[in-house]
Amino acid sequence: MNYLPIYATLKDRPALVIGAGEVAYRKIELLRQAGARVLVIAQQIGIEVQALLDQDLVSWWKTEFEPADVNQAVLTIAATDDAQLNEQVAAAGVQYHRLVNVVDDPALCQFIVPAIVDRSPVQIAISTGGAAPVLARQLRQKIEQELPSYLGPMAELAQQYRPQVKEQLPTLSARRLFWEQLFDQPIFTDLVAAGQTEQAAQFLTDQLQQAAKRTQAGFVTLVGAGPGDEGLLTIKGYQALQAADVVLYDALVGEGVLNLIRRDAQRVAVGKRAHNHSVPQDETNQLIVHYAQQGLRVVRLKGGDSFVFGRGAEEIEVLQAAGIRYAVVPGITAALGATAAAGIPLTHRHYAQSVVMVTGHCRPDGDEVNWACLARDRQTLVVYMGTIKAAEIRNELIKHGKPAQTPVAIISQGTLPTQTVARGTLHDLEQLAAQAERPALMVIGEVAQLAL
Ligand SMILES: C[S@@+](CC[C@H](N)C(=O)[O-])C[C@H]1O[C@@H](n2cnc3c(N)ncnc32)[C@H](O)[C@@H]1O
Repeated sequence: MNYLPIYATLKDRPALVIGAGEVAYRKIELLRQAGARVLVIAQQIGIEVQALLDQDLVSWWKTEFEPADVNQAVLTIAATDDAQLNEQVAAAGVQYHRLVNVVDDPALCQFIVPAIVDRSPVQIAISTGGAAPVLARQLRQKIEQELPSYLGPMAELAQQYRPQVKEQLPTLSARRLFWEQLFDQPIFTDLVAAGQTEQAAQFLTDQLQQAAKRTQAGFVTLVGAGPGDEGLLTIKGYQALQAADVVLYDALVGEGVLNLIRRDAQRVAVGKRAHNHSVPQDETNQLIVHYAQQGLRVVRLKGGDSFVFGRGAEEIEVLQAAGIRYAVVPGITAALGATAAAGIPLTHRHYAQSVVMVTGHCRPDGDEVNWACLARDRQTLVVYMGTIKAAEIRNELIKHGKPAQTPVAIISQGTLPTQTVARGTLHDLEQLAAQAERPALMVIGEVAQLAL
């Protein structure tokens, strides 16, 4: 970054302009718009500047420039056609650590004046750092066309209500969300655009009341993070992460997705492999409720989809019992994401008419697995958390009629750059599983031989 963009307050403060011709006049007017008291140093005065002098709108300070003059102003603009004088002014800026701009001479400038789109109090400054002023002007024209004229009054209204909003919405993220939603409401923008300021203000206060009620209660969003690749997170999931005060995440959630969490949000690792110890589900449930009851926007971020072997249902039951409002944002489950990344279709006209997703990690007291059903022909079986039980799965499937030569694929770390796919037959399942990196998904069925 060659320049630091800042907006300086010049109201009632002195600004010095060297020169009093046409170019100087334009700069003087700009400084006056910003409320500066403009002092002019020049030998000769042009007509426009003379008119300002006649009305006492600027001061003709004296006629000879002295380097120490730059100390009399917040900033100085040299707008003369005398190259030597311009250089002297620039040198004075360096000597006295004052900001000097020399019009149309970027090399001598210690600050530059950007192209401005003015919808005060909204202002957009565009600069190419003196590299291509015409480009900056073109950009300004484009932005001018894009930005509605009601931006100024809308920002003024927002400024007026800021203290009230701050009082009623204690957290930064609640306030951010409130403003984002308000500025997106066509009713609000139409009212402001039509100059119906009172009605717009009424609409704002109604919305604020509703937001305050919602905030007091807190809100939990269960977000499915997808199988690993952050590009597979949904837009809704991303928005929830950006609005969150606190995010409780699983070990399966990829680093890329974690990087999309709003920077100021608190992060809590609750996953099985987090810090090599697992936070029991009950504790996680309590934590979610605890944060929500503080009126925070909580995101429970889980690998894949929360409702596919994700225990999302249990968490929802807890939220319902505590009377906490919630939403569920689905994610791409591993069976869809990892197989797609490995080029394996789950169904295929010739090979598989159905898909069954099962967990290999059954409850100890669990019901008997219906192996005959899982061993069906023309069916793709996707096993989550099954590598440890690969031998048992293989034996049972073969016992229930699945040919030992049935193709299988084990996808490890699916969708991530480290993804690997090991292929073989059902007969080899145990051996393939033993070598697979976690997390791993087993795909059993004719489609496993495909790599589209
Ligand atoms: C507790 S389950 C969670 C499943 C998750 N809710 C989903 O919808 O994908 C964990 C299992 O999902 C599978 N899994 C999750 N992400 C995976 C990935 N990127 N590659 C392969 N398998 C994955 C593995 O079988 C892992 O043991």
